[in-house]
Amino acid sequence: MRKESVLPKMAYRLLNPGCVVLVSAGDGERDGLFALTWNMPVRKSPGTVALLSGKRHYTYGIIERTRELGISVPDASIVDAVYGCGSTTGHRGVDKWERFGLTRQQAEKTRVPLVEQAVATLECRVEQVVDMGPSALIIAEIVAARAAPEHFDADGAWCFDHGLQLIHHLGGAAFGVTDRVVRAKAR
Ligand SMILES: Cc1cc2nc3c(=O)[nH]c(=O)nc-3n(C[C@H](O)[C@H](O)[C@H](O)COP(=O)(O)O)c2cc1C
Repeated sequence: MRKESVLPKMAYRLLNPGCVVLVSAGDGERDGLFALTWNMPVRKSPGTVALLSGKRHYTYGIIERTRELGISVPDASIVDAVYGCGSTTGHRGVDKWERFGLTRQQAEKTRVPLVEQAVATLECRVEQVVDMGPSALIIAEIVAARAAPEHFDADGAWCFDHGLQLIHHLGGAAFGVTDRVVRAKAR
């Protein structure tokens, strides 16, 4: 999907809806990819995100070594691939890209593989890791962001006029959808 650069000060808005995302990492030889629900922006400028990852995830091992990660925002058209990426592990030698019909897209500023089919992508460098026992709370700075211009406008707003359906994990194989905007009246 064609994407254009997003202004750094608007990049955090890509994660404002709280969608499930695909997190990726690569070291030039190996790469990994997994579904992640627990993510949020934590600073506007420089744009910074927080993600909670299991420390045993294959992809987390690569993030730990490279200190880089990619975030790809999927829409409902690839919900099966998202669920698949969250239900299989790279530890067993599976190439999830191939298995779930996803295409690697080259990053601009990092070595992370991004998901071509995603509606938006972010490249991040790890700033801090907070040890949470079996999980790690990763704080990472956004160093590049791109989005499909028909779905995310230059003012930094998601747009649902062209059939976009962002997805949210409800549990198990169930996902909810965001597909319209309601505007509050100023009082
Ligand atoms: C929809 C969905 C959301 C998930 N969200 C998270 C999450 O927020 N954090 C996490 O650590 N794992 C999450 N998982 C689990 C990982 O995606 C899963 O363990 C994955 O197989 C790890 O892949 P890897 O070992 O190849 O890195 C989620 C799984 C699914 C299906």
